[in-house]
Amino acid sequence: MSKRPQRQLHLNLFIHDTGHHEASWRLPESDPHADLDLGFHQRLARIAEDAKFDSVFLADSPVLWGDPSRRPSARLEPTVLLAALAAGTTRIGLIATASTSYNEPYNLARRFASLDHLSGGRAGWNIVTTAGDAAARNFGLDGQPLHRTRYERAAEFLDVSAKLWDSWADDALVGDKDTGVHALPDRVRPAGHQGRFFRVEGALNVRRSPQGHPLLVQAGSSEDGREFAARWAEAVFTAQPTLAEGQAFYADVKRRAVAFGRDPEHVKILPGIVPVIGDTEAEARELEAELDRLIRPEYAREQLAALLKVEPERLAFDAQLPDDLPSEDEVEGSKSRYTLIVELARREQLTVRQLIGRLGGGRGHRTFTGTPVQVADTIGHWFEHGAADGFNVMPAVLPSGLEVFVAKVLPILRERGLFRTDYEGRTLREHYGLPRPGARFATAPSAVAEPV
Ligand SMILES: Cc1cc2nc3c(=O)[nH]c(=O)nc-3n(C[C@H](O)[C@H](O)[C@H](O)COP(=O)(O)O)c2cc1C
Repeated sequence: MSKRPQRQLHLNLFIHDTGHHEASWRLPESDPHADLDLGFHQRLARIAEDAKFDSVFLADSPVLWGDPSRRPSARLEPTVLLAALAAGTTRIGLIATASTSYNEPYNLARRFASLDHLSGGRAGWNIVTTAGDAAARNFGLDGQPLHRTRYERAAEFLDVSAKLWDSWADDALVGDKDTGVHALPDRVRPAGHQGRFFRVEGALNVRRSPQGHPLLVQAGSSEDGREFAARWAEAVFTAQPTLAEGQAFYADVKRRAVAFGRDPEHVKILPGIVPVIGDTEAEARELEAELDRLIRPEYAREQLAALLKVEPERLAFDAQLPDDLPSEDEVEGSKSRYTLIVELARREQLTVRQLIGRLGGGRGHRTFTGTPVQVADTIGHWFEHGAADGFNVMPAVLPSGLEVFVAKVLPILRERGLFRTDYEGRTLREHYGLPRPGARFATAPSAVAEPV
């Protein structure tokens, strides 16, 4: 009897300027112009591809976020950048963030179908609802729509997008020069969507793409976010500070997916990890301390105050957070990140200064400082104890933190049989072990006779 293949980790590289540590751009090795540099991003994608990562990922929001005088704030539009990266890579998946609150489905479905074609089936979409009033004010609104409303719009957005992606049957194209028939007319049909937020006639002006549609990724962990993930997501990025919380989240999202009639294996959960690696623990801690010394406390406090919706002066550096912060129910922005940060501070009784240090490392993601073996151990432990199907790797410093991870942690994971030595598939969905979605077109009732 053949042995069942060992379950393997999925690894995504979260590309973020010169690194996920707030102050990484101030290190001697870092280039302050890296944020808009194609060569810098190509280098990262190639390192990740040579190391057989499943995918690279770019975050995004349609707003100038933070204080541009304090840290890199420029953002290339992710699908544009990933189209350029598609040209210089052949296997690695390319996941772009795009907002359902500040786009229209036709534009976005088309853009992702285009990226999937150009990359030979390597596109993924991190679906976000975009928290914050500042983004809303770039789109003619005075403030952000309610959290619930944003997720309702997102649900309909996905429904429309799926209709558009499926508006061409896989076999629509015939390109028959003799008869002059390029595509079979009855294998292309309108989306015909009428709903609360959108009216879209369709069909899409891009044929069904290699993956059917892009890999669907989601990264909100509130109640609404989890329901949305369970219905639509094939991979979930999440910030989970402890193993127990990671396990609870993992079990909850899988359970919800089953309630939607889905196979729980088809929703991959990837918590974030910010590895700070040294050959010895002391070396790793020294690197972390060097980075923390470069944080500007006043600026970091302003960011924290904005997130907590309090005046910065109310956050005394050497005191704990005020007792009278709003509850998650009263927050209309990023609910799960808000709760994560407040709970982290309360659980560990952190002062504002200590909390700033922790958040500077990875904005609430789990920072892990240690030797390569210790990093491999914690990754393996979460993977084998029901908290992760893989990890969103967020190096504190880029590219050096990625290079160290690849050179020193991956060989240990491979030795333990936990990570691939080569790609087996060609598409992003194949890397994640996910099926290609069938076109609903094929089974939907047709108004015209099926072609023979
Ligand atoms: C790894 C990771 C990456 C994220 N990237 C983005 C992003 O690029 N843009 C964005 O608006 N939100 C991003 N988020 C935030 C979530 O998508 C979500 O908006 C936020 O958690 C609030 O959703 P919630 O209220 O459902 O928790 C990210 C979250 C995680 C965990």
